[in-house]
Amino acid sequence: MKRLPIGILGSGKGSNCRAILERIRSRDLAAEARLVVSDVLDAPILDIAREFGVPNAYLAPGRFRTRLEPETEGQLVKMLRDAGVELVTLAGFMRILHEPMLKAFSGRIINIHPSLLPKFPGLEAWKQALAAGEKVTGCTVHYVDDKIDHGQIIAQREVTILPNDTPESLHARIQMLEHELYLAVIAELCEKIL
Ligand code: GRF
Repeated sequence: MKRLPIGILGSGKGSNCRAILERIRSRDLAAEARLVVSDVLDAPILDIAREFGVPNAYLAPGRFRTRLEPETEGQLVKMLRDAGVELVTLAGFMRILHEPMLKAFSGRIINIHPSLLPKFPGLEAWKQALAAGEKVTGCTVHYVDDKIDHGQIIAQREVTILPNDTPESLHARIQMLEHELYLAVIAELCEKIL
């Protein structure tokens, strides 16, 4: 079976990364994880990569808070290219990508976000939805551009907000659905690209 070489970028706990790597391990996804990269030295996502025996790297982000240093972003392109990556999946990557990555992997970078975009881009989107008194929120997979949680929407799933939901309970339900949705989209893209 042909497998699409993917790269995973993340800054945090890596539950989406784990879901992807589990599905690859059980051979239910026509993908191969070539590289996991994090801009946070001790991010659990790097431990998950090690647990699954996937090559992984810490990329020191440089002096900016919301983006990578341009040279660093160039380095990231090289790392992913050297690893033969053809699809880049962002899984909780907390920096905005710019030209080096967007040009090198045009139409090949996707992100998952815990709201029904265009509603509630940015941090803690589930809290934003609760605070706005929404009845329904969800998650979105979209192509990545140079704006925060923006870019062509590929797929969305809805989550009903329950009257007794706390930020934690709502976030947990959204995350369960995120894993399903991300895997479904990645599977579709594997088929399309291969
Ligand atoms: C997810 O909620 C995702 O939607 C957002 O960042 C979070 C990452 O979670 N972009 P995890 O690290 O995959 O658990």
